[in-house]
Amino acid sequence: MFKNLSALSLTLFIAFALVVPAANAMKLKEYHQEIMTGDDGKVECAACHGDAKRKTIPEVSACEACHGTSDDVAELTKRPADAGHSVEPNPHDSLHYGTELACSYCHQEHKESKVYCNQCHEFEYPDMKR
Ligand code: HEC
Ligand code: HEC
Ligand code: HEC
Ligand code: HEC
Repeated sequence: MFKNLSALSLTLFIAFALVVPAANAMKLKEYHQEIMTGDDGKVECAACHGDAKRKTIPEVSACEACHGTSDDVAELTKRPADAGHSVEPNPHDSLHYGTELACSYCHQEHKESKVYCNQCHEFEYPDMKR
């Protein structure tokens, strides 16, 4: 009996250990949590992933549905014309890529965001919510 019980709790422990990280992996950013949660308390994956059964990295158009076009987003983070080198460049309208970079190159949803530019640069972007 005792043997069975400990086998049971071991099984439960393993199941728990496997299930919990899988659930955490689909955690949302704080800034999206509320708006992406439906009345049933479930996260609306479709808001970003569409209806496809197999989830892939969301298209820019999914983000644009709420945030406006890439140009609109670039306008939000426009730097003063006379800022010069004292200010880090607009991440949404850069020298190399203009406004063409996919949002998900920097903004991650289920893990920490990164700055694509920092493969080559060392920008800090202190205002970015990671
Ligand atoms: C259903 C609408 C909706 C969709 C789809 C959506 N967002 Fe949002 N997002 C919001 C709202 C609302 C906020 C909180 C208010 C705000 O800061 O604009 C927000 C906040 C953010 C912020 C934080 C803004 C800040 O203040 O720093 C980022 C970054 C962001 N979203 C990026 C994205 C990206 C990237 C995608 C696509 C993968 C996306 N969002 C899809 C509605 C949406
Ligand atoms: C090259 C990296 C990068 C890409 C690509 C990128 N962002 Fe950002 N985003 C940032 C950084 C860095 C900030 C912090 C704002 C700043 O430094 O002015 C930011 C801030 C934001 C904000 C908050 C703006 C504000 O101040 O109100 C929103 C919303 C946002 N991004 C959405 C998007 C969406 C939507 C896309 C795709 C169309 C996108 N971002 C593409 C790096 C990026
Ligand atoms: C606010 C937008 C947003 C919502 C809502 C969202 N995701 Fe995501 N998802 C992303 C982004 C952006 C990525 C790209 C990688 C990352 O950011 O972690 C991604 C990546 C994924 C991936 C990996 C895809 C690949 O090909 O690498 C899976 C699986 C996934 N999401 C599942 C889900 C599930 C399940 C839900 C609902 C519980 C959900 N997502 C809700 C934005 C979202
Ligand atoms: C693959 C490497 C690489 C990536 C990724 C990259 N850059 Fe650059 N960047 C460079 C190199 C190399 C230079 C210097 C040569 C030149 O001016 O074209 C440069 C120059 C610049 C300059 C001009 C520097 C100055 O002092 O005037 C700016 C601004 C800039 N990058 C912004 C960005 C931003 C913003 C991103 C992300 C959206 C980014 N870069 C991504 C390699 C990169």
